[in-house]
Formats: sequence, C-alpha cells, structure tokens
Amino acid sequence: VDLWIAGAGGVGREVLDVALALDTAVAGFVDDGCSGTAVRGLPVRPMHELPERAAFLVAIGDPEARLRVATRLEAVGEAATLVHPRSIVGPFTSVGAGALVSGGAFVSSSVELGPHTQVHYNATVGHDCVLEEGSTVLPGANVAGAVRLGRAVTIGSGAIVLQGLTIGDGAVVGAGAVVTKDVAPGTTVVGNPARPLDPA
Ligand SMILES: CC(C)(COP(=O)(O)OP(=O)(O)OC[C@H]1O[C@@H](n2cnc3c(N)ncnc32)[C@H](O)[C@@H]1OP(=O)(O)O)[C@@H](O)C(=O)NCCC(=O)NCCS
Repeated sequence: VDLWIAGAGGVGREVLDVALALDTAVAGFVDDGCSGTAVRGLPVRPMHELPERAAFLVAIGDPEARLRVATRLEAVGEAATLVHPRSIVGPFTSVGAGALVSGGAFVSSSVELGPHTQVHYNATVGHDCVLEEGSTVLPGANVAGAVRLGRAVTIGSGAIVLQGLTIGDGAVVGAGAVVTKDVAPGTTVVGNPARPLDPA
C-alpha cells in the first residue's frame, strides 16, 4: 500500500527520507497549506482528499497539531508506522500506530512508544520508558531508563532526562536542558539543571 505523508514541511521531507530508506512507496503528501504544489516531485493534496483506507503518517513536529490531524485522518485511513532501517529498536518494545523512529535513533528494550510518537535521529530512549501518544524526542536528546513522557510532550534537541522521571502532559523540555526532577504538565523547562522558563 502506498503511503501518504500528512504535512509537507521539513518533518514531512524527513519522513519521506525514512520511507525511501525502507523502500516504502510514497503516493504523496496531504497538506492544506500547500495543496496543489509538488514536493520532491510528489503531489500535495488537501487533507480531505486522503484516499479511503490509505496508509498515512502524520509528519508534523508540534505534538498537539499532529494528534489533531491524526484524529481527523484516522476516520478515513490507517495510521502507518515507520522505523528507519538504521535505527535500533530493542526487544519487547512496542511501536504504536503512526509512530516514527528516524535514522540513528536507539530505542531500548521494554519501551512503549505510543501512537503518533516520534523519536528523531540520533536520539536515545532508555529501557522501560513509556511515551504516551504524540510525545516527541527531538534529535540527539537522551531519555534515560524508566522515564514516562505524558501525552504530547516535547523533548528538545540534545536534552537529557534522568532516569525514572515523569514529564507531564504537554510539557516542553528545551534544547540542551538537563532534567533532574519531574516536570509538571504544560510546563516549559530549560537549562542545567532544568528550571521552568519564566512566563513572558
Ligand atoms: C525552550 C523553548 C521551547 C522556548 O521557546 P520560546 O517560548 O519561544 O522562548 P524564547 O525563544 O522566546 O526564549 C525565551 C528565553 O528563554 C531562553 N531559552 C530559550 N530556549 C532555551 C534553551 N533551550 N535553553 C536555555 N535557555 C533558553 C532564551 O534565550 C530567552 O531568554 P531571555 O528572555 O533571557 O532572552 C525553545 O527555545 C526550545 O528549546 N525548544 C526545543 C526545540 C528544539 O529542540 N528544536 C529542534 C528541532 S530539530
């Protein structure tokens, strides 16, 4: 079955890269922002033109936006899972529908990658972690063992989350942060040790 990639921006093109590495045929993109154009020679259609029962993967960086689009497209098509052939996914790890694991990523054993989660290139996720739906680990971040990432969490590039911590729903860990304590839902933390970013 040919894959449709939802979102034709930077993440969309990176998802295309993963599909190419897997020899997965890609039919095109669905993206209301640039429908009617072509990206890397592939057609971009509006979201409502996703064909019935088509396989799709939502390639949108923002977790809440990704989950909204996923809910809409799941009424029509079927969420696919893409795991780059040059990533490592350990034994007893489950990879949810719509999840993405990019090149060079290392996901250890007994991990639960929930639906529509993303682990980007060269990021690591330790043993026994749970990533709830939509959680995202950006390039080069290291999430230690037995960490729980709530729904729609973002771990910024190069950040480190120490073992056993819980990052609450919708929280954002800034690029390069070192997280040493649980992070409350909806909070943005930065720095080493990570502290809440003062509201502007
Ligand atoms: C933390 C983050 C979400 C804050 O974004 P934001 O709310 O737009 O914040 P701003 O850019 O307005 O910055 C606010 C302040 O926080 C500081 N800041 C921002 N990100 C920071 C970080 N990662 N570490 C330390 N300080 C940071 C800024 O310097 C600024 O400080 P100032 O007020 O003293 O000038 C964002 O900067 C970030 O790190 N996101 C992760 C994104 C990522 O990893 N992208 C990679 C994609 S591949």
